[in-house]
Amino acid sequence: MKLRYIFITPFLFFGCGGLPPEDGFIDVDSLHTISNFPIGAALRFLPFRNDPALQRLQKHHFDSYTAGNDMKMYSIMPEEGVYDFSLIDAILAYTQENDQRLFGHNLIWHSSTPNWVKKKAQKDPEWLSDFMKRYIYTYVGRYRGAVHGWDVVNEGLRTKGGGYREDSIWYEVLGSRYIEQAFHYAHEADPEAVLFYNDFNTERDLEKFNFMIDMVEDFIKRGVPISGIGFQMHIRMDIPNEVIASTLQRAADTGLQIHLSEVDIIFNHHDDTRGGGVQKLKTLTPKMEQAQAQKYYELALMYQNLIPADQQYGITLWGFNDRDTWIRPFFGIQDWPTIYDERLQPKPALYGFLKGLR
Ligand code: XIL
Repeated sequence: MKLRYIFITPFLFFGCGGLPPEDGFIDVDSLHTISNFPIGAALRFLPFRNDPALQRLQKHHFDSYTAGNDMKMYSIMPEEGVYDFSLIDAILAYTQENDQRLFGHNLIWHSSTPNWVKKKAQKDPEWLSDFMKRYIYTYVGRYRGAVHGWDVVNEGLRTKGGGYREDSIWYEVLGSRYIEQAFHYAHEADPEAVLFYNDFNTERDLEKFNFMIDMVEDFIKRGVPISGIGFQMHIRMDIPNEVIASTLQRAADTGLQIHLSEVDIIFNHHDDTRGGGVQKLKTLTPKMEQAQAQKYYELALMYQNLIPADQQYGITLWGFNDRDTWIRPFFGIQDWPTIYDERLQPKPALYGFLKGLR
C-alpha cells in the first residue's frame, strides 16, 4: 500500500520554547529554509505593517505572501470606477524588498464581490461580463510579472456536494462559463502568471472534489488556461489522512500545480457559515497540542510525498498565530488552529510542521 509510510508512530514535538520575538533572535529553524517549496502565510497588511514582532517572524519563516483580504474585489474597488491599488503597491514593495513571492488572492469570489457590483449586474447582465473582463485586465495587467500567481476563481462550487455555486452573482447572471472566461482574461493579461482554481473542503468532500476534477480536466482538454488547483485545507483534527491523501494524489494526477493555499487545523466544528461554530472543547491541553503537531507533521509529509516536486506550488498558512486567526471572529468559537500561540510563542504545531518539511 503506497500510502503506508504516512502513518507512523506519534512522537513528541518539543521545542526549546523560543525566545520572545522582541529579543530579535528567533530560536527556531526557518520553515521556508528547511522546505523544498515555498511556504506562505496570509496577512492583513495594515496591522502587520506596524507590528515589528510579527514582521520578524514572517521574514524568518515565509517566502510567500498572501493577502488575507487586501487583494479582494471589495478592497480594490469599493465603489464604481475607483480602483484603489495603494495597499497592494505597498505590499508588493514589502515582498520585493524581502525576496518573497506575492500570491494574488483572489480575482472572482462571490463573497468579496461588492454590493454595488451585485446591484448593477442584476439590472444589466451584459455589463457584468464586460466588467469582469476590464477588472481582470486592469488588475492582473498592472501586476504583470510581479504577482506570481492568482486564485482566479475562488469557491465557484457549492458548499457541499457536486455542482456550481448558485448563490453567486457571477453564476446567477453569467452561468458557469464565467469561470473559464475569468481564466482566459487572466492569462491574456499575464501569460506567465500561475492561475488557480481554489476551493474549500475539496480534500474531504468527495462529491465536491470529483465535480472539481471533472471541471478542471474539461478545462485542460479544451485549452482553458488553468495552471493549478488550490486546496484551501481548512481542516479539523478528525479529517482522516487517508481521505486527504487520496484527493491530493488524484489532483496531482492532473499534472497541474497544487497549492495548499489556506491551511489551518481546528479542534472544534463549524457549519461553514459565518457564526456557525460549535464549541466542543474549551481549553487547549498539552495532549491536544501534541496531536495537532502530529497532524501538521502528517500534512506536510503527505504534500511532500504525494505531490511531484515540479507540481509543488507551496503550502500557505491562513494566518500563523492564534491571536490573529480568522477562525475565532468568523465562526464565533475559541480555537487554536495555527503554529504560534496568542503571545507569538511557538507551539508544538510549529515543530511538527518543521519536522514534516525537513
Ligand atoms: C476570510 C478572512 O480571513 C476573513 O478576515 C474575512 O472576514 C472572510 O474571509 N476562504 C477564503 C478566504 O478563500 O478568503 C477567507 O478569508 C477564508 C475562507
